[in-house]
Amino acid sequence: MNIKYLSILFIAGVITACTHKNTEDTAIDQLLSRMTLEEKIGQMNQLNYEGNSQELDKRIKAGEIGSLLNVVDPVEGNRLQKIAVEESRLGIPLIIGRDVIHGFKTIFPIPLGQAASFNPQIVEKGARIAATEARSVGIHWTFAPMLDISRDARWGRIAESLGEDPYLASVLGAAMVKGFQTDSLSNPTAIAACVKHFVGYGAGEGGRDYNSTNIPPHLMRNVYLRPFESAIHAGAATVMTSFNDNDGVPSSGNTYLLRNVLRDEWKFDGFVVSDWASITEMIAHGFAQDDKQAAEIASNAGLDMEMVSGAYAKYLPELVRDGKVSDKVIDEAVRHILRIKYRLGLFDHPYADTQAPSASYAEESLATAKEAAIQSAILLKNANHLLPLNKNGKIAVIGPMADAPHEQLGTWVFDSEKERSLTPIKALQTMYPEVKYRYEPALAYSRDSNKSAFSKARAAAQQSDVAVVFLGEESILSGEAHCLANIDLVGVQSDLLREVKSTGKPVVLVIMAGRPLTIEKDLPYADAVLYNFHPGTMGGPAIWDLLFGNANPSGKLPVTFVRHVGQIPLYYNHNNTGRPAPDRAASLNDIPVEAEQTSLGNTSHYLDYGKNPLFPFGYGLSYTTFEYSNLQLSAPSIQEGEPLTIQATVANIGNVDGTEVVQLYVQDVVGSIARPVKELKGFSRVSLKAGEAKVVEFTLTSDDLAFWGRDRVRKAEPGDFNVWVGGDSNAPLKTTFTLVE
Ligand code: GLC
Repeated sequence: MNIKYLSILFIAGVITACTHKNTEDTAIDQLLSRMTLEEKIGQMNQLNYEGNSQELDKRIKAGEIGSLLNVVDPVEGNRLQKIAVEESRLGIPLIIGRDVIHGFKTIFPIPLGQAASFNPQIVEKGARIAATEARSVGIHWTFAPMLDISRDARWGRIAESLGEDPYLASVLGAAMVKGFQTDSLSNPTAIAACVKHFVGYGAGEGGRDYNSTNIPPHLMRNVYLRPFESAIHAGAATVMTSFNDNDGVPSSGNTYLLRNVLRDEWKFDGFVVSDWASITEMIAHGFAQDDKQAAEIASNAGLDMEMVSGAYAKYLPELVRDGKVSDKVIDEAVRHILRIKYRLGLFDHPYADTQAPSASYAEESLATAKEAAIQSAILLKNANHLLPLNKNGKIAVIGPMADAPHEQLGTWVFDSEKERSLTPIKALQTMYPEVKYRYEPALAYSRDSNKSAFSKARAAAQQSDVAVVFLGEESILSGEAHCLANIDLVGVQSDLLREVKSTGKPVVLVIMAGRPLTIEKDLPYADAVLYNFHPGTMGGPAIWDLLFGNANPSGKLPVTFVRHVGQIPLYYNHNNTGRPAPDRAASLNDIPVEAEQTSLGNTSHYLDYGKNPLFPFGYGLSYTTFEYSNLQLSAPSIQEGEPLTIQATVANIGNVDGTEVVQLYVQDVVGSIARPVKELKGFSRVSLKAGEAKVVEFTLTSDDLAFWGRDRVRKAEPGDFNVWVGGDSNAPLKTTFTLVE
């Protein structure tokens, strides 16, 4: 294609984009110019739908409400929309929001599980299916993806996160945005994404939800803000502020975050919504005197839409008249909101098609959910190659999670039907009818402390060739406001595992949970361990496909598993400190009685639990073995902007085909601030047949090495760098390169 033609195409493209933007802005400005102050403030007001009422209808008709959340009946949604569009003075459509976090009807693994797949493609597909199902019933906007970096398994909402690493969360968060929104919000199956909770919510002190965070500027920029920046650049339409105060400033009143970072630096042009009543919660924070001051602080800080607490509707008219909040602030907020409604096509197509066939639970969607559950499962142990199991053997299926259709869906599931869940027991009955098994739940639910049926479980194991024990957490034990100080297997599940193992039979432990649990003391009683972060609708079929070897586990840990809850926070990309502990750090029993004060252990570790986790970030086994060799760099040094190619050979030296998540880690050895001992900079799922080897290639530039340093500018700093390539964050294959001035 000749240059002239390409130039014409490029110019045409720019004109089209500008024309579209101008048309959009012109339409918005024209509408804005016709709106009264009350109608503008109405757009900034979101209510929770709590059933139809004359009061609600009246307020919509008066233009006092711009959005509703939790309307899921398309007929009712259309009725309310009709009032807004055909009976209000200006006919501005409502935008209807819902928490569609990891599926609407077809439920995918919880986001922490999807993160274990290290697969942006399947994560995008899951969001695409969720959007299609949700939009079909008139939902225009989801409050996802949640991009809070989570380093604390005590926090219930780690379940909803994409784990501890900012690079992984950035890649997968952008994939979710794309899946929800497609390339254009005008797509009739698109829903607006909402990146949350802006920002730092996952760093709550003590892992307690809603708690204060103390994230200093370097850490804020280099860890907590990164996934949000990536998602905004991927086109996320909306942002939700977080409940926490950071260093004393609640996010809903944080002008620096909402204006300087989000608008001025990142050029975000969508709208910002509060999290539930986070605006008026600034009173409890001690940051606002009353609702009126909370409304003043939040609107001036750049928070465009208030979820449910009603302070904007009540006080903004007065605040504007008193000059405490300018017309400009109001107009900007309303412009952001109208822009997303416009892009969603709500002015042209405000109604759900209630006659269309259901988009839910399509065969292809269920198949994708099963594949996501397969790729999200992590094989943590497989002694003596117990797995995969022989289908011809007799299996004892034991435990409270073996047939728990509600629990396996995980947290943040409002619209699915548990009857559609295929549990491990249901999957055995429908997919593997030839398998001989005995089922003894032994416990009614994960917290059950009644051991009276343990003897039945024991008997079932004794009469079988192998016992598969399904343990874990009910879904309600993780999620919002469900934090735990003790993250052992809850109740008497560990006792049940020991009881089954005492029969001497081989034991497979299958865990379904919303967080990493402290399972070190359980490991001796299981020959194999398959870990599933609540796997969703198709968890049962996925687990048996893995246990019987129809699929080979490929999941990798998106979060560190600690040995003891007292080690938290413990994560792979930590700073080295001035006294890093040696691998064999002094332990409690090494210390002589009456040891001198300067006893052993003058390094950063625990005398009782050392410095290492139980399982590191990025860890996960396979039924085969992958061997890494021949790590090569395209050059020993690069300059600013110059690409560096990193190659390594990965060989499948086992006798079954498998997929490995090849991971690339980099360490900036010396910086203007202390830098992490290593950071994930790339990953790739590589499928290898038995005996096959491939050269896996990554490319880095100085931009990938950039960080926010002492001078508070994001840039790469010259110096030496270490590079590792391997199957987890302890990868040994290492080399170095230099970034030169
Ligand atoms: C909740 C959550 C938020 C959710 C919102 C609407 O409190 O913090 O993640 O999207 O309210 O349900």
